[in-house]
Parts: sequence; structure tokens; C-alpha cells
Amino acid sequence: MTTGGRYATSAALHERATRLTPGGHHLSGRPLLEPATSPMYFERGKGCRIWDVDGREYIDYVLAYGAILLGYADERVDAAAVAQLGRGSLLSLNHPMHVQFLEALLPRFPGAEMGVFVKTGSEATTAAVRIARRATGRRRIARCGYHGWHDWCLPVDPAVPTGLAEQVPEFSAREPATLAAILDAHPGEVAGVILAPEMLHPPDRAKLVELIGLTHRAGAVFILDEIKTAFRTPPGTLQQHLRLQPDLTTVSKAMGNGWPIAAVVGPRELMRHAEGMHLSATYHGDTASMAAALETLAIVDREQVADHVWRLGERLIGGLAEAAARRGIAAEAYGEPLPPMPFLRFTHPDAAHNDAVRRAFYAEVFARGVLLHPRHLWFISQAHQVADIDATLDICDAAFAVAAAA
Ligand SMILES: Cc1ncc(COP(=O)(O)O)c(C=O)c1O
Repeated sequence: MTTGGRYATSAALHERATRLTPGGHHLSGRPLLEPATSPMYFERGKGCRIWDVDGREYIDYVLAYGAILLGYADERVDAAAVAQLGRGSLLSLNHPMHVQFLEALLPRFPGAEMGVFVKTGSEATTAAVRIARRATGRRRIARCGYHGWHDWCLPVDPAVPTGLAEQVPEFSAREPATLAAILDAHPGEVAGVILAPEMLHPPDRAKLVELIGLTHRAGAVFILDEIKTAFRTPPGTLQQHLRLQPDLTTVSKAMGNGWPIAAVVGPRELMRHAEGMHLSATYHGDTASMAAALETLAIVDREQVADHVWRLGERLIGGLAEAAARRGIAAEAYGEPLPPMPFLRFTHPDAAHNDAVRRAFYAEVFARGVLLHPRHLWFISQAHQVADIDATLDICDAAFAVAAAA
């Protein structure tokens, strides 16, 4: 493996950026490995491929942390958004597309009758917990998973107001007793329970039903944070897949195929508490992203995108497990929580050995033209084809061999 100047242009940009922005990158731009062994800057994407500033091409499974579902620069989605730009994408007050968007979105969620639209996942989860607080007249929120960067999501960070750790306790979805303990310790005080379903893999329906039951018995609102899972889980959302009915649902990411849009949906009885709430930002009414979302939703329905990414995810997971076993690498490939979001965990009991194998594997994978995230679950797009998965598996097989030798 030679990495020498392979990522020289990326590394030079990183060097310049360290003088311009704290840490040298925005947080979602942090290096996959060290800048010497992984590309950091990309300048073009098309379909399932992405090109770095050193001119190298990759089959990409990071997909902008899941914001891309159909593929980069999808012409159908982008044409819809660009047409909307030509009409003025952000006008005063309201636009008919705001109504059309909610009419297209709500029927996908059992029991959802109303929604609010925002721009990012963090805004959606913050809005959902605020609606839960208003609806119950309570303050505490029990949480499990990543829900964004707002203060309540980082309750133990010394940079947020005091008291949040007490108000936003964390439970483990694997152990419903941890949620029961929070609810029992604070009777009549918990407004909502929010769960990102990728925290439970495989997604054990019985456990999820138990978590919802505990929440309801405590008089709290159950919020399913489907920001990663919605639109890529057959038949459409994880709640449909598992026949669950949360009270509120948050969505974003895949919905705009790269255009910023997010929403909270739920029954009228709960959503009506958002009426008059300060839940407003200048760009919420942007219609370019809504046009992108309307087109993405139409394609997702028409072309069974979720089935496609499921099948390819299964193929990738199966092939990785076989290749790792063949090369004598201790690793587990699985869906986090389901095949459209695959991941690979190195499982050698010696942590230092594991780390060395992991680094060698990913450095080789990048050098051979595949972008897989070493620390975060992966995504598959509609643009990936069987040939891309098989090419990826060949590269992973070779990288396992290099890692085994290392
Ligand atoms: C489950 C979940 N909730 C919320 C968020 C926050 O979304 P955003 O980064 O758009 O603010 C994310 C982002 O990764 C997420 O995966």
C-alpha cells in the first residue's frame, strides 16, 4: 500500500482550512482516517460515484451521511428544484407547494394527519420534543440515539445551559428497563421519549412495542426519529416495515436527495399543539427543496427504491461476511438497523489489533476506489447497481488480504 502523495490536494486544502475554521473542517467533514491515508475533499458526484480533488473516483457509501438516496446529481430531482429556483424559491408568506408537500408526505405515516416543515434534522427533532412538551405540559425528555446538534441533544456538554442532563436522560433501546427506570423515577414528568431506530439492530419489534407501551403508560409522547431510516426502508419507512405507530415522526435526509428539508408529522390531536408555537425560521418556506422532495417521493413510490437498496445491502453484507471469513479477519457485517444501512464491525478481542486491521483495511479500500466510512453506518443509493456492489466486494476482499498481512 502506498499512500504518499495520493491525497496531496486534499491534504493541502485541509492545511489551508486549519487556519480558517476551528479544527480545520466542519464536523461532518472530519477525516475518515488521517489526511495522509484518506481523501477529505471532493468536488463532484454523479450517481453512486464521487470524485476527490486529486482526481480519484470512488464508489461511495457515505452518500453525504444518508442525505442522498437516489444518487448524486439526480437529474429528475435537480430539474424540479432548478425549475422552482427560476420562479423564486423563497417568496413572502405561503406557497401552494407547502400544501402539496404535506399532502404528499402525510399518507406515508399511519395516523399522521398534520405536519410542520423545517430545513434540518436537528430542527425537526427539536420541534418534535417541543410539541411533546406543549402537549403534555411536562418538561423531561428521554432520548436514545443521535438527534442532532442542538443543546438538548448534548445535555452533558459543559457548553450548554445547566440542568439539561437532569431534564434529558438517556435510555438504552436494547434494555427497555432503562426507560422504565427513568419513567418510574419521574412520574408525571416525562413529556416525550425519542428514539432513533438504528440504535436497535436488528430492530426487535417486540422491544419497540414495549418501549412504546411504557411511554404511553407514563402518559408521554413517543417520537420515532426516522431521519436516517425513512424512505429507504421497504415498503417506505421503518414504522411501516415493523407495523409500528409512533405518536410523532421526524424525517429529513433522503427526502430531498441532497436538498435541505425536514418535517415532523403526527395525529391532529398532538400536532395542534404546534399552533402558534414559536417554530419558525426564515428559510422554512423554501420551495426549491420542497420541489426536490416532491420529486424524490414520487420516484421512491414509482420505482420501489427501498426494495432496491435492501437487495443490494443484503448482497454487500453477505459478500463482506464471506470475504472476511475467507481472509481470516474477525469481523461482522450487518444492517444498522437493516440491510439498506450496512456496516462492518471488526471483532478481534484485542483492541489494538482490531484498530490496526481496521486502519489497514480502510486505507486500502480508499486507495482502490471505494468510500466506506470506518466509524459510521453506510448507505446505498438507487444508483448503485449489482456490478457496483460486486466491484466493491472485490476491493474489500483485496483489502482484507492486505489487512490480514499487516
Ligand atoms: C437520527 C437522526 N436524527 C437527527 C439528525 C440531525 O439531522 P441534521 O444533521 O440534519 O441536523 C441526524 C443526523 O445525522 C440523525 O441521523
